[in-house]
Parts: sequence; structure tokens; C-alpha cells
Amino acid sequence: MTEPVEWIDVGAAEDFKRAPLREAQLGERLVAVSWKDGKFGVVSNVCNHVGGPLGRGHIEGEFVVCPWHQYRFHRCTGEGEPGYEADKVPAYGVKEQNGRLLVTAKPTSKRGHLAHEPHPLLRPTERAPGPMRIAGISTTAMDGKYPRFSTSEHLLDVALEHARSFGAETKLIRLNALKFRHCEGYYSKAAKACTWPCSITSADPADELTEVYDTAVHWADVFLVSTPIRWGAASSLYYKMVERLNCVQNQITLNNKVLIRNKVAAFIITGGQDGIQAVAGQMMGFFSEIGFLLPQFPFIAHSLGWEFEEMDRNVELVAHSEALKAGARDLVNRAAEMSKALLERELARAAIERGGRKASA
Ligand code: FES
Repeated sequence: MTEPVEWIDVGAAEDFKRAPLREAQLGERLVAVSWKDGKFGVVSNVCNHVGGPLGRGHIEGEFVVCPWHQYRFHRCTGEGEPGYEADKVPAYGVKEQNGRLLVTAKPTSKRGHLAHEPHPLLRPTERAPGPMRIAGISTTAMDGKYPRFSTSEHLLDVALEHARSFGAETKLIRLNALKFRHCEGYYSKAAKACTWPCSITSADPADELTEVYDTAVHWADVFLVSTPIRWGAASSLYYKMVERLNCVQNQITLNNKVLIRNKVAAFIITGGQDGIQAVAGQMMGFFSEIGFLLPQFPFIAHSLGWEFEEMDRNVELVAHSEALKAGARDLVNRAAEMSKALLERELARAAIERGGRKASA
């Protein structure tokens, strides 16, 4: 025998006709009620992706568009957009009766998920065996097509060359060679809307910040970031990267998941005028907050200062300064020493854990 259908009154039908899409309370849960071309549609309010509130999105054609990352579901059947029909949210029966809108207490179809290949960044954060790995991130915003001498990148090159001399593997990433989008503020829609991997990285295969995420989370033991000073702050490309790294910090806030462990960050800062301490303060604060550890004296810097700013000879001065080169080498030495100690401590901890497991077996 088929069960009788239970209908729940969710409100005056006229109220729902005033907006193309609204949330409505259906018993304990919320549903997304749409009204278009004289027809109601009701689907679950919970998006298949990471739970965005569908009823707060908008309607495009016959589809409800999620306000968080724009997944689309048919407003009446709950099916995903063409090509993704199997990725669907539950749909509900709906009818208008005596001026009231009635919705079935239970959905008339089930949620369905399309099998997706996990994003490569989602692999476990285990350090692969091998020599120490030192990444340099140059944030100068110079035009890569017409390169000029960059004082910050020059000192970064010196540091990386020195790292190779003591057997470290190195990698240089120039942000000005990567095409990547600005952070679009998913976090300000809702904490859960800012995902790992980054919402943009997951949706846009052309976005090239993946290399930075992969290097920071999976590859590097030491992350050396160089920046020029621009009006008392780090470069615009530095901030463009840092804003996108919010998704790394957000994993700690949301899921207590620390993606950066046993890694060291250090900084190279160069400019014509003052501002070193402000820039260093921001860099130390940010990188500590996403999980990096800082060596003693975690940055080197150069500036001619307010009184002596003389940009016509600044490049010459940095290019030929043995003291600055020595500073860059010392910086990488300090960072590498700290990294070595952290890696050894981690190996010892793993050995003790293995011993403990054997003893209790
Ligand atoms: S698209 Fe809906 S939560 Fe991401």
C-alpha cells in the first residue's frame, strides 16, 4: 500500500509569488522555493557542493544558481545542469490550495552525487623523502616580457644558489609569470564557502596559483618570499597571493586541519624608502598564522631610507653589495638549520610512534 502524502503549509502563496526564489521553512529543514512562468518549484536548500543555501541564490532559465560557487540545479527536478544531471538535490512536490502553498513533507526524489576525481591538492600532506627543499617566491610585479634588475629577486637568487651549494633542492616561482585570479572573497559569503583547495582553483583549471599551493603545502621545507616595498607595503602581487592563501588558514578555523607543518618561512625585503618593519611585520604575522615557523632573525632587508633615497644608484648598490649577498646566504642558512632540526624531530617522533605500535602489537 502506498503511504498517503503528507503536505505541509509553508505560507501564503502570494508571498512566494513576489520573489523568483526564496528559502522556506519545511518542518525542521529549509527548502528553496522558486516561482517562474506561473509555476512553483521546490528543491532542497542544501547545495551538493559544500552546502551553500540554494534559496539565497538566483534563477537562471530553469535553474537555481547556488550563491556560493554557482553550481546549478533544476528548480523543479533538482537535477544538475545539462551534462551533470546525476549530480542532483532532492525535489519536493508543491501545490497551491486556498491561497496557501503546500509542500510535501518528504522529498519526491533523492540526492545524487556524480563521482568526481579528487583534486590533486587534496592528497595527504606527507613529506616525501629526499633532500631539503627550498622554494623561493619572487613577488616583484615587473613586466616579465621586459625584465629589469629586481633587487628583491636578485637577493632571492643569491639565497637559492647558496641553498643548492649545501645540497638542497630549490625551486623559484615568479608570481609575475603566473596567471591567477584575485581572491573573490568567498569567505565573506560564508566561512564554509572558502574551501580547500581554493574555490577558484577547484573550478578554474586555467588558474595557475595551484603551483604556489602545491609548493607551500606539499613540497617545500623552507618558503623564502621576496618583495619590494611599495608605498610602505609589500608588492601588490604579494597581497594577491596572500589573499588567495586564506583557504589554507581557513582549514584550521573550520576543520582544525593544519596543512602547513614543520615548515619554515623567511623573507627578503628591499625598497628605496622606509617601511621595512611594517612589511616584515605583516609577512611574519601572516605566514605564522597559516602554520609556518620562523627562524631567529627571519628577514633581511635593504632600504636607503627617507633622507638618503637615491634611486639612480640603488640598483647598482644592491647588485654589487657583498654585505647584502652575505645577508641572503646567512638568512637561508638560518632557515635551513631550523628546517633540519624540525625534520629530525619529526623523524624521531615517527620512530617513537612506530616503536610504540610494535610494543603494543
Ligand atoms: S556551489 Fe553550492 S556550495 Fe559550492
